[in-house]
Amino acid sequence: MDFDNVVFEVNDNVAIVRINRPDKLNALNIQTMNELRQVFSLLKHNDVAAVIITGMGQKAFVAGADITEINRLDEETGRLFSERGQDIFNYIENFEKPVIAAVNGYAFGGGCELALSCHMRIASENAKFGQPEINLGLIPGFGGTQRLARLINPGRAMEYILTGEPIDAQEAYRIGLVNKVVPNGELLDKSMELAVKIASKGQVAVRAAIKAVNSMLDHSQKEGFEEEAKLFSECCSSEDFKEGTSAFIEKRKPTFTGK
Ligand code: COA
Repeated sequence: MDFDNVVFEVNDNVAIVRINRPDKLNALNIQTMNELRQVFSLLKHNDVAAVIITGMGQKAFVAGADITEINRLDEETGRLFSERGQDIFNYIENFEKPVIAAVNGYAFGGGCELALSCHMRIASENAKFGQPEINLGLIPGFGGTQRLARLINPGRAMEYILTGEPIDAQEAYRIGLVNKVVPNGELLDKSMELAVKIASKGQVAVRAAIKAVNSMLDHSQKEGFEEEAKLFSECCSSEDFKEGTSAFIEKRKPTFTGK
């Protein structure tokens, strides 16, 4: 299947997905959002073990939702637009395979929200995050008000959302918005290193870990603990678990089968 605005390739069992509208700083128009959703459906069913999302070109990860399209929204279509974006980013957040945002420049508005919906974020030194919707008379509508407040802290998120001020890469690292900052030319290599490392683990446990950590986002802490215990017990019944613990005891490397 061919897409115009989202392209992907697979290396070492890792899919690299690129948002491909560099002349518009990879702004997310409706077509791009639909293609992104379709690409993730494809990746769910093929045998890649991890996904990296990045932006085409040197300048932007994604500079936000396409302002020429959102300009036409009204109350009714605005709600549908927001809900559709939330659905797609929820799909990414709940994806069973690890998803890493490799942020290579502007990650504004919907771009910041896309990065927030990924499981981990690596930023190049020139990355710039921000939720500038307030400057358009808007608020973030693809989950940003919720995810930013959870990931950094509610007071800081409030400030960034109310001022629309950009966050440079070092500041993003300091406040916990990104996992690490790397030199511009090393972004994809470092993201691949992380993806390949996770891909070498037992995939039953990888899936369970993503689900368990995400359950903290959807539930109260009490429900999160219950979910964690349930998923922990499911891992205990897997072949990967028996293999991983046996290999440790026998002082050898484990051979995981994903069962
Ligand atoms: N929606 C639609 N088009 C966008 C866009 C967006 N979110 N962000 C950038 N573009 C387009 C510009 O209109 C321009 O198109 P043109 O060449 O046809 O005029 C092109 O991308 C390059 O952007 P430009 O503004 O010229 O680049 P810059 O380096 O001067 O500025 C930004 C970069 C990111 C600071 C600036 O583009 C910007 O503020 N974008 C909007 C960010 C935003 O508010 N996002 C939230 C949207 S809800």
